[in-house]
Amino acid sequence: MLDLKRQYRPLHQELLQAIGHVLEAQQFILGEPVAAFEQAAAAQLGVAHAVGCSSGTDALWLALAAAGIRPGDAIITTPFSFFASVSAILRAGATPLLADIEPATFNLDPVQVKAVLDGPHGAEVKAVLPVHLFGQCADWTAFWHLGKTYGLKLIEDAAQAWGAEWQGVKAGALGDAAAFSFYPTKNLSAAGDAGMVTTNSDELAERARMLRQHGMRRRYYHDEVGWNTRMDGFQGAILQIKLKYIDGWNHARRAVARRYHALFHAAGLAEAGPYPAHGVVLPHEVSGTHHVWHQYVIRTARRDALRQFLAERKIGSEIYYPVPLHLQQALLSLGYSEGSFPEAERAAREVLALPIFPELREDEQQTVVSAIAEFLS
Ligand SMILES: Cc1ncc(COP(=O)(O)O)c(C=O)c1O
Repeated sequence: MLDLKRQYRPLHQELLQAIGHVLEAQQFILGEPVAAFEQAAAAQLGVAHAVGCSSGTDALWLALAAAGIRPGDAIITTPFSFFASVSAILRAGATPLLADIEPATFNLDPVQVKAVLDGPHGAEVKAVLPVHLFGQCADWTAFWHLGKTYGLKLIEDAAQAWGAEWQGVKAGALGDAAAFSFYPTKNLSAAGDAGMVTTNSDELAERARMLRQHGMRRRYYHDEVGWNTRMDGFQGAILQIKLKYIDGWNHARRAVARRYHALFHAAGLAEAGPYPAHGVVLPHEVSGTHHVWHQYVIRTARRDALRQFLAERKIGSEIYYPVPLHLQQALLSLGYSEGSFPEAERAAREVLALPIFPELREDEQQTVVSAIAEFLS
């Protein structure tokens, strides 16, 4: 599914040297290595501020807290994402309201969000938290209009979308604030847990810096109850090295995605969609976006049997996500049930993520597609 060693090997010396510098400086928490990464990251994204922290989950909480989200506020997000998109809202003391997804992109559907805004709890909504799922930006034009019309904050869950763009603007620079994850499998990855909040607001950035260190502006004077969610120096140093290569890696991912498209079409397996019949519905890049292919997710009717067939041939695949968030045991108290979000529920039954990473070879992709063709024949 993913061979991280292919990325690591050519960087081995450079990374060891960067780690050595952190050891020499003995700057293990925040400090110069993190500050330098934050500056370079903000410049690459074209955003005023980047605030490093300890994970993508914490970055979501930090972005919400810094944006002034309080208990009693409601936040609209998607039921088809990683758990943290919703749990971070709860951790901020707010109430998650969910809205269904677009079947073609798996991203939060602005039409469904508008319906929630016009519904009985619309007045409590303070922010929308779209997720740029699988590396493709949610429909930011529509969310921007909703934000203006209803006076809402927009917080991006950009955990999977380093380098993605909407109409030429990078993920991380679109909303009032954004949260990134540098979990080791992400396009831009640390050697452990790490995350980051980005924003163009001086005030929000200042609050995020204060909140990530127990609400301190001055050492041992606590203005608010924040949390310990600091990035460590090793992660900052490693991420700064990888920042130089990420555009190239994302470019290579785009080439891998194009090759899958060509191979599936050549094999006669590609169907128009958005739902599968007998073949495979390929993921598609919305015009005006720049997809960074964190995942290459197909839809197919007999998904579980196909996955089993691939596993028997030692071909990795993964299901992101098998259970939509409103049906997760931990979130039943939100009050949704089976049938609440039919698109998310259907996607959970049909999606299958195929191997994708920058160094994946064409012959390996051919093996994947040939196996799927064999299964479907
Ligand atoms: C969409 C999404 N949001 C949030 C997160 C949380 O990030 P982390 O694992 O760094 O806490 C992830 C990563 O797993 C994610 O994919």
